[in-house]
Amino acid sequence: MRRSRGFEAIRGHAHLFERPGDEPPSFWTEALGDPPEVYRERIQHVGERAVRRWDPGRSKLGAGLAKGWSEPLPVDGERWLYLGAGTGTTPSHVADLVGPTGRVYALERSVRPFARLRQLAGRYPNLLPILADARRPMEYCGLVPPVDGVYADVAQPDQVAIALDNARLFLRGSGSFLLALKTASMGRDREPRQHLAAAVEQLEGIELERPIDLAPYHRRHYLMGGRPTRALFREPAAAPSRRPTDPAPRARRRS
Ligand SMILES: C[S@@+](CC[C@H](N)C(=O)[O-])C[C@H]1O[C@@H](n2cnc3c(N)ncnc32)[C@H](O)[C@@H]1O
Repeated sequence: MRRSRGFEAIRGHAHLFERPGDEPPSFWTEALGDPPEVYRERIQHVGERAVRRWDPGRSKLGAGLAKGWSEPLPVDGERWLYLGAGTGTTPSHVADLVGPTGRVYALERSVRPFARLRQLAGRYPNLLPILADARRPMEYCGLVPPVDGVYADVAQPDQVAIALDNARLFLRGSGSFLLALKTASMGRDREPRQHLAAAVEQLEGIELERPIDLAPYHRRHYLMGGRPTRALFREPAAAPSRRPTDPAPRARRRS
């Protein structure tokens, strides 16, 4: 780690910092937006730089970091597709992480949060808001190029299928996959651990890291992620979230 006036840059991450001595550990991203505050998070100045505290109570990816998640994460210069961007709390940190040469294609289907997301994009030139339904990737495939990472936080019963369909279509073979799994959206008939086990099974096309339980920051949520394997890009027998009229994603990847 490189020391930087009370903050330590995390190896391999140009814009992610930790402040030694904080308990629980605190993570900070170098602010790309101007002015830097997005959701009343704390701001500190480190020389010429402003860093924003990544509040684990407001962000599942931030909670994952606080609870020990390390890889994969968005890194400098990458393009990420973000499903379920909301008002932009976590997307703003992802935009910080990928830096000025990276891009975040931030998808949100609800008009209200999308209006705030668009405002945020006015301050974040690398954040591109897209008003669309993540279940219908064919409707925005002309706006999103192949990406280095897919992050999904849609809190839907079919969230795993939604994330996988988008990964098959947009993710590079060597890319990163992240999913904030909200088990409460998958039904109360089963325990969170049972939903997690079902999700692990469904994600057989991803070489998964150990999932992180996001309690106490976000109860009944897990952060899951890893790298795609070839199996991901094989056409599934049935993809519940894809409309029957959509072209096969594999065919599109080749075009
Ligand atoms: C938990 S909130 C997102 C919070 C945001 N990811 C963050 O951490 O700052 C989930 C969001 O997903 C959006 N969403 C749900 N289903 C969706 C879909 N099918 N397509 C796009 N967005 C969706 C909701 O409108 C909501 O804003």
